[in-house]
Amino acid sequence: MVQYTDDLKEEIRSANDIVDVISQYVTLKRSGRNFFGLCPFHKEKSPSFSVSADRQYFHCFGCHKGGDVFTFISEVERVSFKEALEILAERARIELPTSQNAEFNKTQYLKDRMYKINAETTIFYHERLYKPLAKIAQDYVKQRKLDNNTLKAFKIGYSGEYNELYKHLKAQGFKDEEILATGLVNKNDRGEFIDRYRKRLMFPIMDVSGKVIAFGGRKLEQNEKLAKYINSNENLVYSKKKHLFGLNLAKQSDSKRIILVEGYMDAISLYQRGFDNVVASLGTALTEEQGRLLRKYCEQVIISYDSDSAGQEAIMRGLGILEAQGCDARVLQMEGAKDPDEYVIKYGSGRFNMLVDKAISLVEFKIKMLKNKYNLENANDKIRFLKEITQILSNVSNKIEREIYIDHIADEYNISREAIYAEVNKALYSEKVTDKVLIKPVVKEPKSVEISPAVIKRENMIIYLLINHFRESFEHIVTHITLDDFKVEENKIIFEKILESPAEDSEKILQVIANIEDPAIQSHVSEILVTDYEISSVEKCIEDVVTIYNKDRLTNRKFEIIKMLDNSSAYTKEEVAKLEKELNEVIIELAKKK
Ligand code: CTP
Ligand code: MN
Repeated sequence: MVQYTDDLKEEIRSANDIVDVISQYVTLKRSGRNFFGLCPFHKEKSPSFSVSADRQYFHCFGCHKGGDVFTFISEVERVSFKEALEILAERARIELPTSQNAEFNKTQYLKDRMYKINAETTIFYHERLYKPLAKIAQDYVKQRKLDNNTLKAFKIGYSGEYNELYKHLKAQGFKDEEILATGLVNKNDRGEFIDRYRKRLMFPIMDVSGKVIAFGGRKLEQNEKLAKYINSNENLVYSKKKHLFGLNLAKQSDSKRIILVEGYMDAISLYQRGFDNVVASLGTALTEEQGRLLRKYCEQVIISYDSDSAGQEAIMRGLGILEAQGCDARVLQMEGAKDPDEYVIKYGSGRFNMLVDKAISLVEFKIKMLKNKYNLENANDKIRFLKEITQILSNVSNKIEREIYIDHIADEYNISREAIYAEVNKALYSEKVTDKVLIKPVVKEPKSVEISPAVIKRENMIIYLLINHFRESFEHIVTHITLDDFKVEENKIIFEKILESPAEDSEKILQVIANIEDPAIQSHVSEILVTDYEISSVEKCIEDVVTIYNKDRLTNRKFEIIKMLDNSSAYTKEEVAKLEKELNEVIIELAKKK
């Protein structure tokens, strides 16, 4: 029997967005960080089934089932874990290895070589940017006001002449067929190998994990005949529609929103000026796959495309895609500059930030577009305008939101509220649209009576911190909290796994935990992942939790010593003196912590 590798499991997992997969079985609605719906595993009238898009976990607060996308499929389809994996591989069109499948291993090997070539090429181009022969590129980045930190963060480079890259890669031991597969080098009719990118400013495109999968190269010469950008074609490791430039950096941002721009330069320029949450769709229409990626890493998307009409068209499409997936998408409105790069250079990051905060919703954007189409001074146009906005408004399912828009439109365009209400109601009742009311999930009863809810919550929060803020919390937590401190059995097991694993970031920690094949653990983890602990400062939260444990430890020790001293005849004079000294210290320590 074939064993599937962890890498393959991860590939399948990341190709199957949990919100998407579950949406095929359950109607989900967004509320805050999570999506909610009626649980498919038990009968219920109000939704207690929760799905976390950023953590890729589900949990039902009613029946306590929970886990990752594999658990979901194996539960809902009543199949084994392995079969679930196969169903999801099929869904994502990922080929699985079979014992006779030598072809598969060959492909995996080639992919691996291509990643290595891309990594090597990135360094080659980047180092070349700093050499004297790269003067034209150095002048250009100066002119575009890019500083050295930015060049490093995005690993920007300068490509060579003729076949410099090819020669370099050959010297590194890569084979012709491997190099050709990346598209970085082409073979011409005469059988010569020529670099595809020559004398261009190079932008490596990375996947979410930071692996280089493709390149874009901007021309530096004024030559009209040259294309402004050349980009990698699709290949084994690069599928244009599935990636967003800059997401590897943006996903690390603390911001709940992501700013979506069109071009490399917009993303880079904003990043340099303090916006660490920017991604670029690279001039093409936003795809569903990209929409899903965005939904996974943020709660709100701010579309900030170029202000030309092509940009405005693209906004409409992008908004539609994002909203259909349950994203809160907004449009940034910019005047006085053609794109975000120009704007932020001209007016500064403070003003750009204000535009971000003032971004408008899809409904408002559509209405604004309509207003431009009609002449509202003209009575006939005004009636048509009213008809069209009615259509838009009747699709807004939230009643309060709808009323806000109606008020707003009535004021702004001088149309009576009653007239708009009458039209909207007509449209609503003919379509029988009903409002689905969301009810907050009930919090689960503690499993064991002996452990207090406060302790459970505190322990869960530690696990939550370790999963979501691994880098910041790990050191601190393990120096102050030990395995024995954990009272809830599930937490103990999870903590032990984390201690054992060599993982160094949150993604990996989650993988480690996902591999514990105990349904009770998975249910417990999923509950933690979908709970909102309302942490405003991670640092402070870690500090507080650790303090509680230290205090508990000191208090316990205090009573222990007092008990020992009560029974002082059992100890020597020196021992008693030592205990008294320690008791003093403990009391002082405790006082400090109050
Ligand atoms: N693009 C492309 N090929 C072109 C023009 C554009 O692939 N010939 C893509 C690039 O990904 C580019 C994006 O569309 O980043 C947006 O185009 P544009 O606004 O022209 O480029 P900028 O990145 O803004 O670059 P610059 O500021 O240097 O003009
Ligand atoms: Mn531009």
